[in-house]
Amino acid sequence: MLHVCFVIVLSGAAEHRRPQSRIAGQSEWSEYFPDCGGSSQSPVDVITTQTKYDPSLVPVTPLGYSQHGNQPFSMHNNGHTVIVELPEWMGLGGLPWFFTAVQLHLHWGNGGPGRGGSEHTINGRSSDAELHVVHYNAELYPNMSAAMTQRDGLAVLGILIETGDETNPGFNNILNYMSRIRHADQRAFIPAFDVQSLLPKDLGRYYRYNGSLTTPPCYQSVIWTMFHERVQISKAQMEMMLYSSKIQEADRMLLQDNFRITQPLNHRVIFASFSAG
Ligand SMILES: *[C@@H]1O[C@H](CO)[C@@H](O)[C@H](O)[C@H]1NC(C)=O
Ligand SMILES: *[C@@H]1O[C@H](CO)[C@@H](O)[C@H](O)[C@H]1NC(C)=O
Repeated sequence: MLHVCFVIVLSGAAEHRRPQSRIAGQSEWSEYFPDCGGSSQSPVDVITTQTKYDPSLVPVTPLGYSQHGNQPFSMHNNGHTVIVELPEWMGLGGLPWFFTAVQLHLHWGNGGPGRGGSEHTINGRSSDAELHVVHYNAELYPNMSAAMTQRDGLAVLGILIETGDETNPGFNNILNYMSRIRHADQRAFIPAFDVQSLLPKDLGRYYRYNGSLTTPPCYQSVIWTMFHERVQISKAQMEMMLYSSKIQEADRMLLQDNFRITQPLNHRVIFASFSAG
């Protein structure tokens, strides 16, 4: 309930972009959403030799991610991506405040060789896809809508996804149902699952910086945690992601290439929880 506003704003943004290719449309986001032209935008390219080691960065701690309960999760297509809503007892520790989980979603490319798909890149290299788990600062703000416009309002975990040989069973909890929500605004209820199974094993090594939502309205409210370890899904799983999106070609709402290109770092420093250079 609390993040309904967030989703509506994102769908509104998709309207503006509909006639153009998504990547081409990005340069015009700031005409409608001034924050998209701000100086602390996401995603960014992480240049590892320019990161700053910060030994105070402790491992992030997913809380309740594995206590998924029996109630189905709601998954929907907002015209830009697939979003799985998360129960409010899930949260995140290891940051200066307690953050409550809101939703997770994916970004990917179009399957073309070398076309990328992730939003963040590391040393100029993109991955095939990227998972974001979104949380809001429940110590400072009453809900997602209030938090999303505020500095330190949100914490997002970013997980780079690569295509490999092995099936990743955790991701089937989402991918098996994506074909049910091929069209914008469709919703499906999916069996609850262990959200931690989507994360890399090593939660101790990550990059931390202050950035933004990567879709309009691009609020500069996000404490980003980008894990160093990538997760793998199989080629067949990657194709499931691409296939469920290609079906939409007819109504020009292609759910693909839904990643934003990297943004200038400007004055910002990217901290690393480990010696990354
Ligand atoms: C979020 O909290 C604000 C401030 O208390 C309140 O005005 C608003 O109605 C709440 N929004 C939702 C969606 O609950
Ligand atoms: C983010 O911004 C806050 C407020 O300016 C600052 O205290 C904090 O150190 C910054 N964090 C990072 C990772 O740059």
